[in-house]
Amino acid sequence: MPTSHYIDQIQNFIEGVNAGTYQRAQSDLKRLPVEIYTDQSRFDIEMEEVFSKSPIIIGHNSIVPRPGDHFVFDHLGQPLLVVRGKDDQVRVFYNICRHRGVRLVSEEGVTRKGSFVCPYHNWAYGLDGQLMNIPCVESFVNDDVNSRHLIEVSSAVAGGFIFANLQKDSQMDMGVFLGETKDDLEALGLSEQVFFKQTTRNVKANWKLIVEAFQDGYHVVRLHRNTVGSLFLDNVADIVRVQDHLRAVVARKGFETMCQTKSDQWDVRNQVSLAFYLFPNTIIVIHPDYISHLGLFPVSPDETICVHSCFLDEEPKTEKAKAHFERAFNMIDKGVFEAEDFFVCEQAQLGMRSGVNKSFPLSEHEIGIKMFHDILSDHLEK
Ligand code: FES
Ligand SMILES: [Fe+2]
Repeated sequence: MPTSHYIDQIQNFIEGVNAGTYQRAQSDLKRLPVEIYTDQSRFDIEMEEVFSKSPIIIGHNSIVPRPGDHFVFDHLGQPLLVVRGKDDQVRVFYNICRHRGVRLVSEEGVTRKGSFVCPYHNWAYGLDGQLMNIPCVESFVNDDVNSRHLIEVSSAVAGGFIFANLQKDSQMDMGVFLGETKDDLEALGLSEQVFFKQTTRNVKANWKLIVEAFQDGYHVVRLHRNTVGSLFLDNVADIVRVQDHLRAVVARKGFETMCQTKSDQWDVRNQVSLAFYLFPNTIIVIHPDYISHLGLFPVSPDETICVHSCFLDEEPKTEKAKAHFERAFNMIDKGVFEAEDFFVCEQAQLGMRSGVNKSFPLSEHEIGIKMFHDILSDHLEK
């Protein structure tokens, strides 16, 4: 078993539970005002201060395994093109031709090419974004157009994920940004995981409500009683802040056995669920035999695009194995996330819009929600 910071967290958690001294993290937050989920000016500030200035996950290494593999990404409010170059480097560009600004690549999904040719007047660019050819270049009299390469967006790969930062010339030191969670993602094998499936849906709820649904241990055995609820203990969870991220250990039924055994006997992924919130919009859930990654991309105060990706240790080798993971993904994606978590988020958004509640209270079992808002406040008050 790889050692990492989450192992220390589990150890401390168990010691606290066994000794009866387990204390939940503290936060002074008692209530949250409803207007932060509905107000357009608050939304605009979040987009400006958080989403335009933070490294955001826009894909995974395994989606573009070979040179020339590329995909378009529009969920950050700008047209982006993600491509693996001949030098094996993943780069992110604005998907905008430097002539008249036409969308350079329009195909959906992942495709492979040796270069990009604009459909309008056929300016051609290399996989590294360099301008390679302009038809009738001599006709651009008195204008040096030869240096109009694609504009690159700051990007980096860490824990297998491709991060982009729309802020111009931003520093992408992922060790600094991710802190201990970088080691955790590596230890959990995220860099070597292979992409299996993805769904994208518009959820009619504020992005923060959806983040909160994944920090809230209070609902698990209740809302999910007909699906995964029976796999978990009620309100036995530990959550810590790591830089601007959260790492949660949520006790499954096997946790009781875990408490009685030494760490070399643990079966971590079957005894606890590890869940990460990576600032600002990423949820990663480590299920027993696959990993869910959820990227939340705000559209408006009341609408969020949710991209749910499933990663596996290796490509399923048989039809039976493939069918198993199809079923598992479908159950969590449709049966749990869509029908239960996203459903209640949409209902809560409607409730907030009604104006009946001006604020809502937070129990100590919702400590993760308080911690998330503490993190967000740190950014909004900078
Ligand atoms: S707009 Fe792309 S070549 Fe003219
Ligand atoms: Fe849930």
